[in-house]
This record gives sequence, structure tokens and C-alpha cells, in this order.
Amino acid sequence: MTRHGAEVRVARYPDGAVTPEDFEIVEVPVGHPGPGQVLVRNTWTSVDPGLRLRLRADAPAGYFAAFPLGKAMDGVMAVGEVVESRADGFAPGDLVSHAQGWREYAVVDPAAVQLGGVGTLTRLDAGVAEPQVFLGPLGGMGLTAYAGLHVVDALRGGETVWVSAAAGAVGSLAVQIAKLCGNRVIASAGSDEKVAWLRDELGVEAFNYRDGLDDRLRAVAPDGIDVYFDSVGSDHLEAALDHLNRRGRVAMCGSIAEYDSGPKGPRNLFLAVSKDLTLRGFRGSSNLHLMAEMQGRISAWLRSGELVHRETVFTGLDSAPRALAAMIAGDTTGKTLVSIG
Ligand SMILES: NC(=O)c1ccc[n+]([C@@H]2O[C@H](COP(=O)([O-])OP(=O)(O)OC[C@H]3O[C@@H](n4cnc5c(N)ncnc54)[C@H](OP(=O)(O)O)[C@@H]3O)[C@@H](O)[C@H]2O)c1
Repeated sequence: MTRHGAEVRVARYPDGAVTPEDFEIVEVPVGHPGPGQVLVRNTWTSVDPGLRLRLRADAPAGYFAAFPLGKAMDGVMAVGEVVESRADGFAPGDLVSHAQGWREYAVVDPAAVQLGGVGTLTRLDAGVAEPQVFLGPLGGMGLTAYAGLHVVDALRGGETVWVSAAAGAVGSLAVQIAKLCGNRVIASAGSDEKVAWLRDELGVEAFNYRDGLDDRLRAVAPDGIDVYFDSVGSDHLEAALDHLNRRGRVAMCGSIAEYDSGPKGPRNLFLAVSKDLTLRGFRGSSNLHLMAEMQGRISAWLRSGELVHRETVFTGLDSAPRALAAMIAGDTTGKTLVSIG
């Protein structure tokens, strides 16, 4: 009997905010793996702001490709269990990660480099952590947070670091890594509940950016900031430029304030000149060489309880579009995930 499984397809490109109506869920026959391939039953899949950048006819230059309409969405992280294998090194029952998420089953070719290598089929050690943690702190989220701090030389400590979108997947890790490395960390987020979590559980100074950026930054960091970890762009990057000290650095991780609306650049870029600032864009996937180091340090911090992580879990593949909309709207905390049975 042919096995069937559901997959999410893009029905139309959103105009503004993402809605579930922009997607369709389709039952498709599941193929058997060809020579050198494996069949994976996905159990968890990731929900990432970067997906919004690919829900349009052309993704930003240099970024991952746009999702075609009416087809499965390739290049979305998932973890799952190998069901059939015709590839050396993979056996039924293995826990793996790969980049054919937002579907229940995937035929995966281990030789195919996916998402710059982060999404290439990888066998995971189920003894290290729960499977979905490899989509968060021990996967691309951990790598992005760690690499961002690394590229602006903020792992050595002793400075004042502001992290925006700080209660999110990447931000909450950047906050904790920066603190564990000996920095003074200031965190911002968009609700009082998130600010309370950052203060009370992550132990950093935090403010709600909806109460005002400039005043809050001045109050909490009267001597300025040395490093800004930017996941927001727009008004947040503008405020950072105002408050950065001479020779300050910005780790440009993302610009979520622009993903639905299009570019909204800072108006005060000349401050980068006048203050000798470094604005450093980076991709987690361009820093694969840091993966093992990051996993070693973060798994030790998780074991010791020095680093904690939160998840917002949506259940069932058909909840993935709703999860994406909720995450961009700020309605989730920590890593946003979909559990697929
Ligand atoms: N460079 C890379 O390789 C890389 C890799 C992964 C992710 N990223 C980027 O990292 C950022 C965070 O990703 P994530 O997966 O960790 O998502 P996330 O932070 O878990 O979720 C996104 C959060 O952004 C905040 N946000 C949305 N619109 C905003 C606005 N206009 N102003 C301020 N905050 C806003 C919301 O939180 P509030 O409630 O606080 O508003 C929302 O929860 C994104 O920009 C993403 O594109 C980059």
C-alpha cells in the first residue's frame, strides 16, 4: 500500500502580514528512497522569520531561494526519524536533522548540501538532548547567536551588549551567551511578560521597546553600549547607532521590522563614520566551522543549568502557517516549533 503524508505549500505570496490562507496543506504519496537516499518521518519542524523573506517572487539577493508557488517548501529545518535507508551511515530509527521540513515525510539525499550545510542530513545523538533542541540551542539558533557574538568579538566579555528581539529563539541565546562570557547585557522585547522572563529567569536588565527606545537605552546604559546584536533593523538599529560608543560594533543578524513591509533603513548612518563603528552582517550558515565549538559550550551550559531555553510549540503540521504568523507578530517566546505527531 502506498504511504501518504501531508506537506505545506505556498498558495500565494502574502501582501503584508502572513495569514494561514497564504498556504495550502496537501496529502501526497510518499516515495521510497532511491540508491544513496533515506526516507525520514519528520517529528518536529522549525518556524523561522527568514521564511517570510522567501514568501515572495524573489528573495533578497544572496539569501536562500524564494519558495515556488504550489510546491513543497524546500530549505526549512526539521528533525525526524529514519524510516527506510539506502544510504551508508544511516539506519531505520536514527534521529536526524535536515532541511525538508513543513512536511510529514521527506526523501532526503545525504550528499545534497542544504541551507549552506546547516541543513545537510545529519545523524544526531539522541542522548545529548531532546530532538527539538537540535532546532534551537544546539542547532541553527545556537549557531546564529554564537556566530553573531563571535564576528563582533563579543565572546571575550567585559563590555555592554544590547540584544534586541531578546525573548526570541536567537535573541534569548545571544543574551545568555553574552552574559556567560562576562558582558553586561541589556535586553529588549515587545511585552512586559517577555521583559519579566528576561529579568527574572535570564537575569539581565531588560526593557519593553514599546515604552520607547531612546529614553530606555539612555536610562539603562547612560555610558552607552559597545555592541548591539540586531535582529530588528529599522528604529532599533537607528537607536543603537545613537547610543553606541566609539568603535562600537553591530552584529547584523536580521531586520524583522522590514520583512512584511520592505526596507526601512536607519536615517543616521553617518554616525557609523563619526564614531568609527563596525556594522557586520553575518549568516549563521556561513559560520559552520563554529558549530562543534558552539554545541560543546552550549550543551555544557544546558547541563549545568547556566543556560535555559524556552519553546512555543504548535501541534500538527497544519498549524505551521499559524505559527509563522504568531511568531512574526511577537506572540511566541523562545524557539517557535511545530510538533508533527
Ligand atoms: N543571520 C542569520 O543567519 C539568521 C539566522 C536565524 C535568524 N536570523 C534572524 O534573527 C532574528 C530572530 O529570529 P528568531 O528565529 O530568533 O525569531 P524570534 O526572535 O523567535 O521571533 C521574532 C521576534 O521578533 C520580534 N519582532 C517582530 N517584529 C518586530 C518589530 N517590528 N520590532 C521589534 N521586534 C519585532 C517579536 O518579538 P517581540 O515580542 O519582542 O516584538 C518576535 O517574537 C530575525 O531577524 C531572523 O531573520 C538570522
